[in-house]
Amino acid sequence: MPLLTILRYPDTRLHKVAKPVRQFDERLKILVADMAATMYDAPGVGLAASQVDVHEQLLIIDVSDAQNALQVFINPEIVWASEERILYEEGCLSVPGVYDGVERPARVKVRALDVEGQPFHVEADGLLAVCIQHEMDHLKGKVFVEYLSPLKRNRIKSRMLKEERENQRDRSKVGAR
Ligand code: NI
Repeated sequence: MPLLTILRYPDTRLHKVAKPVRQFDERLKILVADMAATMYDAPGVGLAASQVDVHEQLLIIDVSDAQNALQVFINPEIVWASEERILYEEGCLSVPGVYDGVERPARVKVRALDVEGQPFHVEADGLLAVCIQHEMDHLKGKVFVEYLSPLKRNRIKSRMLKEERENQRDRSKVGAR
């Protein structure tokens, strides 16, 4: 299973809006397997297709300690969200090294399809609820740093661009050898 390249903020492709999945075929299963390998390798607890430049409504999550309980959500919809909110320190594979508090509904009910196209419902709280909402934002083209103040966001953007330049420099050095 090849590892996929995860887009890094502020790559504008992270702001594309994902389209619903229509075909529940072999291609979809391979994409899910490749995304899972990529997420576990990173390592992370969630990955949206948007982050690997596939703009379809697909996300995967594994919040288990053993990282052996993959959950796949296709065309997910939040059908209910609690009034109660939770402040959680979030991070994102597209914004490596950055963690900050985001407030969201503490509990959600989600309707989605599995990889076979079968509908299911999940009622989530805690980390799973946060993760589902964070990944669903990606499908809408939204990265969690957009919840932070413009000042913080600009600092993060500059830091990411600086790291990107440094990485490019390192790569060209390796290439020159
Ligand atoms: Ni993310």
